[in-house]
Amino acid sequence: MKYSIPRGTKDILPKETPLWQKIEQICQQTFALYNYKEIRTPVFESTELFTRSIGTSTDIVSKEMYEFKDRKGRSLTLRPEETAPVVRACLENNLISTDQVTKLYYIGPMFRYERPQAGRQRQFHQAGVEVFGSADPLIDVEVIMMNVQLFEAIGLKDLEVNINSVGCSKCRPEFRKQLKEYFKNNVKNMCKDCNDRFEKNPMRILDCKEKKCQKYIDDAPASVDTLCDECKVNFEEIIKMLDYQKINFKVNKRLVRGLDYYTKMTYEIVSGKLGAQNAVSGGGRYDTLVQELGGKSIPAVGFAVGLERVVQIMTNDECRMTNEGGIILYLATLGDEAKKLGFDLLVKTRQKAISADMDYLGKSLKSQMKAADRLGARFVYIIGEDEIKKGKAVLKNMVTREQSEVAFDDLVSSIS
Ligand code: HAM
Repeated sequence: MKYSIPRGTKDILPKETPLWQKIEQICQQTFALYNYKEIRTPVFESTELFTRSIGTSTDIVSKEMYEFKDRKGRSLTLRPEETAPVVRACLENNLISTDQVTKLYYIGPMFRYERPQAGRQRQFHQAGVEVFGSADPLIDVEVIMMNVQLFEAIGLKDLEVNINSVGCSKCRPEFRKQLKEYFKNNVKNMCKDCNDRFEKNPMRILDCKEKKCQKYIDDAPASVDTLCDECKVNFEEIIKMLDYQKINFKVNKRLVRGLDYYTKMTYEIVSGKLGAQNAVSGGGRYDTLVQELGGKSIPAVGFAVGLERVVQIMTNDECRMTNEGGIILYLATLGDEAKKLGFDLLVKTRQKAISADMDYLGKSLKSQMKAADRLGARFVYIIGEDEIKKGKAVLKNMVTREQSEVAFDDLVSSIS
């Protein structure tokens, strides 16, 4: 019996993990620059947390949740995203209030039962941030700028920030009214889901992926055109400040996010180097979610980056990180005596926090040299019987190809 990996999931193999580690490290460093602290929550939560926050008429809730009952019959769901769990954790642990700004970040796996394709998996990874406590448009700008800085630090190029405003509870009734008016004659020609959405939540029609619905959606009213005064001023402020900070962005009034909790500013950063799934990150403001989930009225904003998509761009670009993941020292030994001595030196090297390895399969010198190459070793130290007698051996620099004789006692100092 052979087992294969579940559809829509991927192993991240040892040759890929150095790139993942590097990207995660840059995320942590960038978030720390802006004073964000890490939070880790369980990978499953009560199903209701997601249905309440993301919205029952979204694709995520209606089609994509990994929902299951535990042995006591409780309905649980593997997290499809991390904003709702972070709000839940903050409320349970009193991490947020109206008179302080709380900045949090997370990195971890998310689960959505989607049709797998390039850039879309059923288990994927996000790095994201959430800020609670401030409605200041400067925070919206900070969040977008941090996202841009993060991608620059990783080395992603040719990106575009798409920004939109979806309004608030004051302007939404007007938007809803206009959408109903616009779709009412055509909804019978649209898909079954759109007919449901027309009744329950007409704004979700704008997120329909069906081809036959697109032609109606293209000319539908846009939320930016129905903003109330407060939302309009707020959006203009954000745009002005992004301009002032020379951020390359475009207002995209067709930008629709797949989650219902957003208010006011929403955005996505898209890459020309990905296929149909071109959003590398997405986020926005969600000023009503904390209250919706049982807390006080606390404004919030955040984003999440799809790490598989970042990796995909980096891999397509053949943007290799030099010697990343390679070890510093490989000890090649010939004979049992040399092997024992080599092991001693290996222990000492690692104690000095220098990564090192040796052969445990009794391979020939030639094969050991090949292994050193494969491991990306920067130095190889070659010990045979003669060397034991002399108390020194040849140290080869695998990058410059230089070699010199180094005494056993000097090995650590000459490679550190
Ligand atoms: P989202 O747009 O659903 O937002 O996901 C954010 C990013 O995760 C996407 O831009 C994409 O790069 C990646 N992503 C989503 N689904 C998949 C998938 N099936 N396979 C691979 N990558 C995927 C959220 O999740 C919000 N919680 C973001 C947020 C935080 N808004 C406010 N705070």
